[in-house]
Amino acid sequence: MINSFPRHVSIIMDGNGRWAKQHGLPRLGGHRAGVENIRRVAEVFAEYKLKYLTLFAFSTENWGRPQREVKGLLQILEERIDQEVEFLHDKNIRVCHLGRLDRLSRKLQQKIRGAIELTTNNSRMTLSIAFDYGGRGEILDAVRRLLTDKVSPGDIDETLFKEYLYLPGIPDPDLIIRTGGEIRLSNFLLWQAAYSELYFTEVLWPDFGRTEIEKAVAAYSQRQRRFGEI
Ligand code: IPE
Ligand code: IPE
Ligand code: MG
Repeated sequence: MINSFPRHVSIIMDGNGRWAKQHGLPRLGGHRAGVENIRRVAEVFAEYKLKYLTLFAFSTENWGRPQREVKGLLQILEERIDQEVEFLHDKNIRVCHLGRLDRLSRKLQQKIRGAIELTTNNSRMTLSIAFDYGGRGEILDAVRRLLTDKVSPGDIDETLFKEYLYLPGIPDPDLIIRTGGEIRLSNFLLWQAAYSELYFTEVLWPDFGRTEIEKAVAAYSQRQRRFGEI
């Protein structure tokens, strides 16, 4: 059976550092190119009428990188966010965040909250950015909130549990793409990826564009999704 176009695509945007090396740039040059690629990819998917796009931008483990890189990356984000959000808003794209906000600077937190608020009524596509996100942390946060709410064990089923995750209203990803050649999830969407189709490409994130999107979607359309049935 041929699949229709996916409803939700998630991307692990990996390979900025190697891209920088290939171009004789410092690693931050790669992150800059990576951030700039977000709007290009979002625009292509919106043209294709995708409803949900989720991008993994910074993991809870990425704090362990040299301080200079982390600081630089946060600075690039702080510099670019207003302009990028304006572009997305103009295209009728809604912006969401998943992950923790409390470890980010007050200024960045404000900008992220502002972006969510500004675009909340946009209906063309929902772009969720996973920043300071970890799949295990998300599951633990859900458990903590279930306990705080004193939910009785017998009432906890998969539907209720999902409501306690970071983005309850968004369907599980149909397709997860990872750029940069590694064949792993690196703590991304552990709960939601249970039945996602996985697609890995060697192409580095800053080079991932329309042609690569078409290849990934074509591969997806050939997959047979059985969900445990026959
Ligand atoms: C992905 O690119 C961006 C982040 C994880 C923040 P990398 O920085 O991991 O690039 P490589 O894997 O070193 O090439
Ligand atoms: C995964 O990339 C996280 C993001 C793309 C944000 P990493 O480069 O951090 O993953 P590992 O360390 O190779 O697993
Ligand atoms: Mg990497």
